Amino acid sequence: MRINKISSLNGTITVPADKSITHRSIMLSSLAEGKSYIHNYLMSDDCLMTMNAFKQMGVDIEQKEKSLIINGVGINGLKSPVKEIYAGNSGTTTRLLSGILAGQNFSSTIVGDPSLSKRPMKRVIEPLSLMGANIEAKENNFLPMTINSSGKLKAINYLSPVASAQVKSCILFAGLYADGITKVTEPIKSRDHSERMLKSFGADICVDNLTVSINHCNKLYAQEITVPCDISSAAFFIVAGLIVPSSNIKILNVNINKTRDGILTVLKNMGANIILDNIRNISGEDVADVEVKTSKLISTSFGKEIVPSLIDEIPIIVLAATQAEGTTVISGAKELKVKESNRIHCVASQLNKMGANIQETDDGFVINGPTKLKGTTVESFDDHRIAMMLSIAGLIAEDKTEILNSDCVKISFANFYEVLGQICK
Ligand code: S3P
Repeated sequence: MRINKISSLNGTITVPADKSITHRSIMLSSLAEGKSYIHNYLMSDDCLMTMNAFKQMGVDIEQKEKSLIINGVGINGLKSPVKEIYAGNSGTTTRLLSGILAGQNFSSTIVGDPSLSKRPMKRVIEPLSLMGANIEAKENNFLPMTINSSGKLKAINYLSPVASAQVKSCILFAGLYADGITKVTEPIKSRDHSERMLKSFGADICVDNLTVSINHCNKLYAQEITVPCDISSAAFFIVAGLIVPSSNIKILNVNINKTRDGILTVLKNMGANIILDNIRNISGEDVADVEVKTSKLISTSFGKEIVPSLIDEIPIIVLAATQAEGTTVISGAKELKVKESNRIHCVASQLNKMGANIQETDDGFVINGPTKLKGTTVESFDDHRIAMMLSIAGLIAEDKTEILNSDCVKISFANFYEVLGQICK
């Protein structure tokens, strides 16, 4: 993709539905009894992987343009897949699904693309093994991963070493099949979509600060869910609106769940003019229209306490920091090294190629701003969020920016360039 410098961004847009919520709604609807309706679902490569996995296990999923109709098979109704389950690039599919698969009385194997095959799975293998599942994985950490289970799991009380919603959700989903109350405690609160949704599907779940408890479950009840738009996708346009001159954009129906809104806090600390309007609750999630105007940004610093609530937004926050006056320090974000790419290295190396002044650290970045960016050829590393961040950088860079392998935006945001085109005035 080639991007030219732009003089302003103006207009009202809608970004795609939330990826995390779409994955979870497909999974829980498949395990529920009755027909669930998922409106405004995310039609992206990652979510297709989850959908295909459940189709392979005998779930009837009807895909309409705007809605999914899922005929749930009940908590014990999944069928053994005839072949391996391909999770593509999707860590969420793999880790959440592994919790469900551990509760089945059949064996299954998950495989993935080259990027996913390098991501750590020990974080789910460890708790699931404690629950009694027998899991074989390459070097006990990587895909392919075969999950052998007798369908009988032990309830555990697990202290998670990482603040990861994927790990937490994996254990909670396995907990549906365990013989008592399963508890998971995380060091810092991660996104809580699973907890909210499990409750609405009728699971016996209780949240006490950093500890979530779930009881064995015999039945989940079909639901009608409207998925709000993804703040992680909106983030690219929020920052674009702040750093492109003379801009004013509005993004509709954005999920502003407290465990996901760290980017808004950080950008406001940087002096961003962001207004939340029309705040409401849709299917148990808080939603708002987000209005952004070009702002003079100043540097900030943040660390591990807030990182889980903005983990996927760090690449675009780093871009914002290159345009802010002063030194921004981001720490406590080592997890970025095991995302779809090593996001500490990929973000710093590609933005520095464009003229930014960013130092990589072991757990984050030191960014000196403001710096003028210049267009050049940059690499997405097949990471959707790097491709989108570099495209926004291209809007403020002198000359042309060429992003290699930009096609990967389809992992979460297939019409990203179309939506960008709508506000390029
Ligand atoms: C996700 C959790 C986060 C996030 C990922 C989606 C989820 O991962 O980075 O994009 O839907 O639970 P971790 O759990 O590894 O932090």
